[in-house]
Amino acid sequence: MESNGYQSGFGNEFASEALPGTLPPGRNSPQRVAHGLYAEQINGTAFTAPRHQNRRSWMYRIRPAAMHGRFEPYAGLQGAKPRLHNDFGDGPVTPDQLRWSPQPMPAEATDFVDGLVTMAGNGSPAAASGIGVHVYAANRDMQGRWFYDADGELLIVPQQGRLHIETELGVLDVAPQEIVVVPRGIRFRVALPDGEARGYVCENFGAFLRLPDLGPIGSNGLANPRDFLTPNAAYEDVEGDFELVAKFQGHLWRAAIGHSPLDVVAWHGNHAPYKYDLRLFNTIGSISYDHPDPSIFLVLTSPTDSPGVGNLDFVIFGPRALVAQDTFRPPWFHRNVASEFMGLVHGAYDAKAEGFAPGGCSLHNCMTGHGPDAATFEKASAADTSRPDYIRDTMAFMFESRAVIRPTAQALDAAHRQRDYQACWAGLQKHFAPPA
Ligand SMILES: [Fe+2]
Repeated sequence: MESNGYQSGFGNEFASEALPGTLPPGRNSPQRVAHGLYAEQINGTAFTAPRHQNRRSWMYRIRPAAMHGRFEPYAGLQGAKPRLHNDFGDGPVTPDQLRWSPQPMPAEATDFVDGLVTMAGNGSPAAASGIGVHVYAANRDMQGRWFYDADGELLIVPQQGRLHIETELGVLDVAPQEIVVVPRGIRFRVALPDGEARGYVCENFGAFLRLPDLGPIGSNGLANPRDFLTPNAAYEDVEGDFELVAKFQGHLWRAAIGHSPLDVVAWHGNHAPYKYDLRLFNTIGSISYDHPDPSIFLVLTSPTDSPGVGNLDFVIFGPRALVAQDTFRPPWFHRNVASEFMGLVHGAYDAKAEGFAPGGCSLHNCMTGHGPDAATFEKASAADTSRPDYIRDTMAFMFESRAVIRPTAQALDAAHRQRDYQACWAGLQKHFAPPA
């Protein structure tokens, strides 16, 4: 399937048809749909959610989604236990600062689903709250199979290699420094135009991601709605001996399916995938002194029932000018009630001199102290703040959550975990010099 272009906007009532005259005028489920198609609705929110929080789409498709074989547990890559799960453990969890080098590329043929490795998470799909944090490293297109996640929406952050994502509602082509969000339940297939791909995925079990309110910033700024792109309808009419892989309640399942589920000829609604180019983010910061809290860099948020408290906040640290006077310009030393999983898509991050490579990640949990490393502290303390610093070559991000993000056993045991990470602060000198 080829990309058929995009519709602009965030959470709009989109409408698209790949065959003219398919969308039924004036009703959602007419007695007979044009071209002999079936009408089917997918709901992403409770039927009675407030109108501005209601997400659903109507699909006009060749076969209903119910048509597939019986699900059985998915055995994983060549019989190995799937590395994608939501087992975040319930025992003691270390408060240490944690950091990992990039996830190694697989030695054997591995597609997007098999290439997903769960690093950390909190909450659960059963509680409809929390997040799963995963990385992926893949070197093969998904062939003859499709995937959907019933447990949450997927925020995909490519770091290396483009992704060609064919979904029930159309095709998205994304490259590093773009993101894509696939809503809960939408079936899709991932191909790798560059042969290999690596990146990050946040699985959101809570309320769907949305644009934050802007408060005193006003009616423009941060991520602007018109820069979000939702695909136009595209379908394939293919039959064969295929596989449907589902993630349901933290585990993977497989079922035989005799046709491509990407058979939606037309659709309308707002439960739909979208992509966004992070380089379009309107970055706002201080033009006098001090460094605002990183909430100023918020792209998307999954709210909770507590006002202002996020189940998931997606924050980016992109190119920007630092102009604050008489100010320590990098991110300061801090401890937060929120927990922070960071990744680096491109370039270098301004609070770390080395060790935080593109494709790597770090985890700083609730009240765990962290901040610039010794080399960055010394450099920024001596910098001339009468002149601007231009940070041009960077794209870091954070998945931030109100609850502790628990590292998985496979993440703690990974060979590429940097077991000496805390040493990056060991060189901070004692400068205290009280008057005699
Ligand atoms: Fe932090």
